[in-house]
Amino acid sequence: PDYQTLLVEKRGRVTLITLNRPQALNALNAQVLDDLLAALAVFDADEGQGCAVLTGSDKAFAAGADIKEMADMGFAAMYGTNHFAGWERFTQTRKPVIAAVAGYALGGGCEVAMMCDFILAADTAKFGQPEIKLGVSPGMGGSQRLTRAVGKAKAMEMVLTGRMMDAAEAERAGLVSRVIPAADLVDEAVKVATAIAAMPPLAVLANKEMVNAAFETNLTQGVQFERRLFNGLFATQDQKEGMAAFVEKRPGNWTGK
Ligand code: HXC
Repeated sequence: PDYQTLLVEKRGRVTLITLNRPQALNALNAQVLDDLLAALAVFDADEGQGCAVLTGSDKAFAAGADIKEMADMGFAAMYGTNHFAGWERFTQTRKPVIAAVAGYALGGGCEVAMMCDFILAADTAKFGQPEIKLGVSPGMGGSQRLTRAVGKAKAMEMVLTGRMMDAAEAERAGLVSRVIPAADLVDEAVKVATAIAAMPPLAVLANKEMVNAAFETNLTQGVQFERRLFNGLFATQDQKEGMAAFVEKRPGNWTGK
């Protein structure tokens, strides 16, 4: 596909997707959504690709949904077209997507980072849900995902005040998995993604699915979901190969079967 708002590049088994609307600090308009859904569909369908990295610029991962695009919309247009619902399809990507966040991740930008499987943050990253200052609220899952990630106290303070969290606070709060010097962010994210992409592919899908199930189930159901998938992995060639390789003290040679 021909992307208007993204740069998409393959680095070995990793797809690196860079948001590229610098004039608007990567504000997320309808074109960005179309481009991202297309890029993720290509990535998910490509057997040669095992993990994706989504990043922005040094200044902004994304400064939110495009305010200029939304400003004149009324209830009928928003509700009638279910305007932001397309973003939920982002989360249906089956292979892992890592967010590599430098600079601003605000509003929809923070929400998209949270739709990824985990967030690696540059030391310059700033996370916030400032929608209240525009007379609205998070609309792409932020009130739910931020609360699950950092708990009620911080989430409530952030959405009610619009205050930004820096990278160190975001790491303490559990919003990001790690903080990395800004100059190394993308290389480090690609390195992590390369390691994931070298894992047995079916096990990657299963591990992602079961962690996500923790947010949709109670403990008993979640543990049962895990056990079913775990048991299922014993029907794969890669389980036989992985355990044989361990015993024989050699690297596994995965078939994805
Ligand atoms: C459209 C945006 C934008 C946005 C920045 N720009 N954010 N355009 N939508 N969300 C544009 C600016 O208008 C400006 O364009 C250019 O990008 C550079 O931005 P500046 O403001 O000049 O940069 P700076 O002074 O460095 O300030 C950076 C900033 C600020 C603090 C990030 O841009 C800002 O506060 N942005 C809005 C953040 C926000 O409110 N996000 C939440 C959006 S609502 P021009 O043409 O003037 O040069 C949302 C809802 C999601 O996300 C859920 C659905 C409801």
